Amino acid sequence: MKIGVGCDHGGFNLKDSVLKAIKDSNVEYIDYGTNSLDSVDYPDYASLVAKAVLNKDVDMGVLICGTGIGISIAANKYNGIRCAHVTDGFSAQMAREHNNANIMALGGRITSSDDAYAFTKIFIQTNFEGGRHQKRLDKISNIETEQSK
Ligand code: RB5
Repeated sequence: MKIGVGCDHGGFNLKDSVLKAIKDSNVEYIDYGTNSLDSVDYPDYASLVAKAVLNKDVDMGVLICGTGIGISIAANKYNGIRCAHVTDGFSAQMAREHNNANIMALGGRITSSDDAYAFTKIFIQTNFEGGRHQKRLDKISNIETEQSK
């Protein structure tokens, strides 16, 4: 498994905890930046990671901005991306089990390093349950198809 990680300046300080959780899980990753506290635009990093997931360069992604809101909104503009804005461990688990989320978004200004580490481990180690949840994801795909017309 390979995880794509991207952040803006508001998420930069939290990125190390996310990368550590990935490394400690013996999973590979690609770091799509940003790599400093200099101001950047979160849609650019959402695009890099969303495209990497859709192209199968990575299996899943983690995105971080100040709140996790803007970067998740941007990522979810891509058909096929299910980006979950996560602020607790239960949601990290449900995002995978029920929503088959392929990207998790975190907020660097609202989530502690310890929590980011824990949420990342949960997210990458939890599998989609399928079953009744697949029917609901199919309905999301139908919405995307309808919107593309
Ligand atoms: C950048 O200041 C901030 O707006 C961004 O990181 C994010 O929180 C947007 O949702």
